[in-house]
Formats: sequence, C-alpha cells, structure tokens
Amino acid sequence: MNADYRHTASWLKERIPELPAAGLILGTGLGDLAEELEQLAVFPYSEIPGFSQSTAPSHKGNLVLARLAGKMVFILQGRFHYYEGHAMEEVVFPTRTMAAMGIKNLFVTNAAGSLRKEMEPGSLIQIIDHINFMGTNPLIGSNDESMGERFPSMNQLYDPEFLKQGANFAQREGIRLQQGVYMAVTGPSLETKAECAAFANMGADLVGMSTVPEVIVARHAGIRVAAFSIVTNYSNLFHDLAHSQEEIRANAARASVGLKRILGHLMEGL
Ligand code: HPA
Repeated sequence: MNADYRHTASWLKERIPELPAAGLILGTGLGDLAEELEQLAVFPYSEIPGFSQSTAPSHKGNLVLARLAGKMVFILQGRFHYYEGHAMEEVVFPTRTMAAMGIKNLFVTNAAGSLRKEMEPGSLIQIIDHINFMGTNPLIGSNDESMGERFPSMNQLYDPEFLKQGANFAQREGIRLQQGVYMAVTGPSLETKAECAAFANMGADLVGMSTVPEVIVARHAGIRVAAFSIVTNYSNLFHDLAHSQEEIRANAARASVGLKRILGHLMEGL
C-alpha cells in the first residue's frame, strides 16, 4: 500500500499543467465552494488509481484542480471518514498523494459540534490545536522514511503564520472568527452528554469525526497546515435535540461565506 500513493501522485502530475500551491479538503456542507471557482480539471475519485469512494452525505467525491486567489489549488470535494468503514490508510490516502506530489500547504475544513456556548451554530472557528481521541493514528505501521520521521513532533501543528494571517484578515474585514481546540472522535454515533462534558473538561471546544488523521499525515510529511471548523450544531452538552441534515447544511452555508474569504487570503499569501 505504501508505494501506491506515489503511483497516484505521478498519475495526477501527468494530467495537470503545474503543481498546485496548496491542497484544500472540503468538509460537510462546503463541497459547493469548488463550484464557485474557475475549474481547470475535475477527477472523479472513481477514476483516480488508489482512491476510495466517498459515501458521506453531501460529499461529492471529486478532486478538482481550481484557481483560488490567482493560485492553483487541489480541492478534495468530499473526504473519506473512518466511520464509513475506510481503513485509516484510505482516509489519509489523498493527503499522502498530495504530499508525494510535493504540495507544501494544506487547508482543511470540517463541520463540528460545539462544546462552548459562545461558539453557537453558524460560527467559524480557527483550529489552534487538537486532541486525537479516535483511538488510532494514521502513522501506525511501517514508516515511509522518505516521507517523514517515525516520531514526528506535533508541536505548533497548526501553522502559527497561517493562524496570524487568518486572524488579522478576519479582524480587518469584520469576519467573526474564534479559535478553538478540536477533539476528533470516530463516530458515527454522536456523543453522550457525559462524553461532551468530559471533552470540554479535557480542553476541547469542538468535536468532530475528521481532520485529525489528514493533519497528522500532513505534518509527518512537512506540509504547513491551517484548519477551520464550521459549527453546525451545539453538542449534546446543551440540549438533546437531534439535528436535521437541512439544519446542518444551513449553518454550514452561513459560516462558509467568511471561510471562503479567509481561504482566499491565505492562498494569496502563498
Ligand atoms: N459531533 C461530532 N461530529 C460532528 C458534530 C457533532 O455534534 N457535528 C458535526 N460533526
């Protein structure tokens, strides 16, 4: 399996005019962003060697080469979640492929539940750190030394320069942007009230079922990372209501306006 992403990287490189400046993983409710940009190529996951199929609702399953803020970006329109039954290797395969291509920057977005009152549904959060509570790690297994070291540091994982640029831009432009710690769980069952209380006590502000595997693999490969959560719902800490897919999509759409502008600004600075 280890060598496969190198093959996929070569396959993609042969089909694109230049190496993208960044990768962008679009989370739940954000897939449409790729449609608003100038698209130079679209690769359905089913046609890319080594890629799995995305089964999560509202995840489209295309790798899109697009132009954002004048720069080339590889957009993953739909990601692979561990809860879908994909092996961890499959979850991080697109990230490893981008690393093998030589892409140096990665922007990751997700939908998350809030553990803090002040991070209400529709809020946009800059992830400043994470807690991996998935009970596994994408780097388990033989280490690809040419990609990165066996025990990579997770210090300042979320690039301080990206954090500063994002925060400054948001402030200047009047975009409400908070900072938070993201707790990754496997799902697919949502958290109990006791779990939410425990996670909040552990220092988490948000809870979700993605992002951390991709971010760990990106760091392992020396890629600069920025990540953002869109709060789609309050976690079970605050109420017991189930959330409809429509409600989640509407909240994601609200926060995505500011997120798109911030991503454009970060791209511009590359
Ligand atoms: N919990 C876990 N993952 C999520 C949630 C949540 O409440 N909302 C969106 N993704």
